[in-house]
Amino acid sequence: MSRVIGVFDSGVGGLTVLSRLRARLPEADFVYLGDTARVPYGTRSAETIIEYSRQGILHLQTSGVDLVVVACNTASAVALPVLAGEVAVPIVGVVEDGVLEAVDTARRGVLVLATPATIASRVYKEWIGKRRPELVIEEVACPLFVPLAEEGWGDTEVADLVVRRYLEGIELRYFDLVLLGCTHFPLLEPALRRCLPTDVAVEDPGPRLAERVARMLGPMLARRGVVRFEVTDSVESFARVAGWMGMPAEGHVAHLPLSVLTGD
Ligand code: DGL
Repeated sequence: MSRVIGVFDSGVGGLTVLSRLRARLPEADFVYLGDTARVPYGTRSAETIIEYSRQGILHLQTSGVDLVVVACNTASAVALPVLAGEVAVPIVGVVEDGVLEAVDTARRGVLVLATPATIASRVYKEWIGKRRPELVIEEVACPLFVPLAEEGWGDTEVADLVVRRYLEGIELRYFDLVLLGCTHFPLLEPALRRCLPTDVAVEDPGPRLAERVARMLGPMLARRGVVRFEVTDSVESFARVAGWMGMPAEGHVAHLPLSVLTGD
């Protein structure tokens, strides 16, 4: 059987998840929806995040996907609990994998980097704390990482400055694990590695999620799957960042007018 997986994010961040999914499931087809006209989600109210996510996820469902991956921590933390009951196809978020990564691998403490909305939801602190109450858990909202990633500036001296500023005042000796609680943040991993002590691991839950999705879908026809990209804003800037991430998207990115999502 061949399968189509819908991948949803506010922008380019979900590409970090898509690359993991493609590596693990090369036979699957993918439809990637980046709501680039309305990124960022992580600084918005819960009502707005739920409504934007609803529109994107229902659009993917209408496109005929077999499963939706919400490749956005903000939408997974804030909107998924509300939307899960509204979607007819299986739907998977990213938070669970981040929590398990921390629960399974942290020794002293976990520093969660995420958007303000994800942190306000408290999912990471509560879910990790429940399973490993002895761990030190601290969360830092890093909203400026999102535009840096969207701009393709994750591995620049500007990113280093921003990372240092967010880490200011944090007692790093308490932590052995930095959890990337936003799918845009793996794009800043080079800057994070430059700014963190070498004995602190930086974990991206993407591979664990890909493994979980592969288990859910089971065996597929041996074939090379294709990816179709849809974005609500500039096709060119999305294709540029995708190319920079090693996922040539040029010629495969379609502009999706926002009115298709909003129904106006
Ligand atoms: N990539 C998203 C996340 O994982 C959202 C970033 C944003 O739009 O603020 O949280």
